Amino acid sequence: MCAEKIGWDSSQLRKYDLHLDEIPRLHYEDPKVDEFMQKNQPVLITGSKLVKPAEEKWTLDYLEKNLGKSNHTVFVSRNHKFKYFDEKKIYNKNNLKGVEFTPPTKRVDMKITDFMKKLREWKRGDERLYLQQPLNSTVGSTIVEDYLKFDWHFVAEKKNKYHWGELTSNVLFISMEGNVTPCHYDEQQNLFAQILGYKRCILFAPDQFECLYPHPVYHPHDRQSMVDFERPDYTKYPKFKNLKGCETVVGPGDVLYIPIYWWHHVESLMRGGPTVTVNFWYKGGPTNLEYPLQDHQKVSIMRNVEKMLLEVLQDPKEVGPLLRTMVLGRYCDP
Ligand code: FUM
Ligand code: FE
Repeated sequence: MCAEKIGWDSSQLRKYDLHLDEIPRLHYEDPKVDEFMQKNQPVLITGSKLVKPAEEKWTLDYLEKNLGKSNHTVFVSRNHKFKYFDEKKIYNKNNLKGVEFTPPTKRVDMKITDFMKKLREWKRGDERLYLQQPLNSTVGSTIVEDYLKFDWHFVAEKKNKYHWGELTSNVLFISMEGNVTPCHYDEQQNLFAQILGYKRCILFAPDQFECLYPHPVYHPHDRQSMVDFERPDYTKYPKFKNLKGCETVVGPGDVLYIPIYWWHHVESLMRGGPTVTVNFWYKGGPTNLEYPLQDHQKVSIMRNVEKMLLEVLQDPKEVGPLLRTMVLGRYCDP
């Protein structure tokens, strides 16, 4: 990957044993952007004014002053990984008979001043923080003014052209350098707008499902890969060796399109200072069942089958044996 003339170099990227191509990088007026987005393919869009007011103004000091006095959602981790988990699925006793789960991070409410103080004073070895706060009515009026000046025409045009559903949320991410969001997929379309600092995004298409070994859907880590990219257990996850993906580094002003159901791993570059991102999450559009089905539609079908079996069997331990009985010698090659 080329660092171009800009502010990072490859020593700031974590090392993984992966086969990766480069995500295409195109100016927002380039008609080829449409070709990628139409096909649910990732593309890095440069030069748009999507979050221009934020790009120009949202330094850490400005955010501290203007984000508002209410509490913000912050995740705390003892290491650099912030693997998402669904709290509702921890306490769902039916679904978790006999399954132990230790949350890898802690969610806390924090005033922005306390968060920024920890960010400034952080040194290697301290616990790490990651603020992930929806931009809602609790944020201060100056931030709301900036938000209203985002290029809503740009996103509305994309939404209409690709028949996405409604905008569900804009989440502000303020990360310490080196933080990692491990590999997962979301069930929404995402325009990932980078504001401050650099993040590396590694993406995998939905057809890489088998190589990424997602946790079962009832598990709190639903939608997350079970494979630790830093120490892959090839005995447990042999197909991880065949995994193929693509990557890019986003910087201020870049907008990465992360298509619905595409896997993504995101890391703030090491020794690059804190990073700021705003995500635009849109519901997927109405599903037309045109054949052949697309890979992400097959993932959605698999999720529904898993959910249904779990609901009727009541015990996750019974799902695997039932599927095996159904498939072995019938739908499997001998
Ligand atoms: O860390 C991140 O910026 C993650 C974003 C996402 O998963 O969408
Ligand atoms: Fe995500």
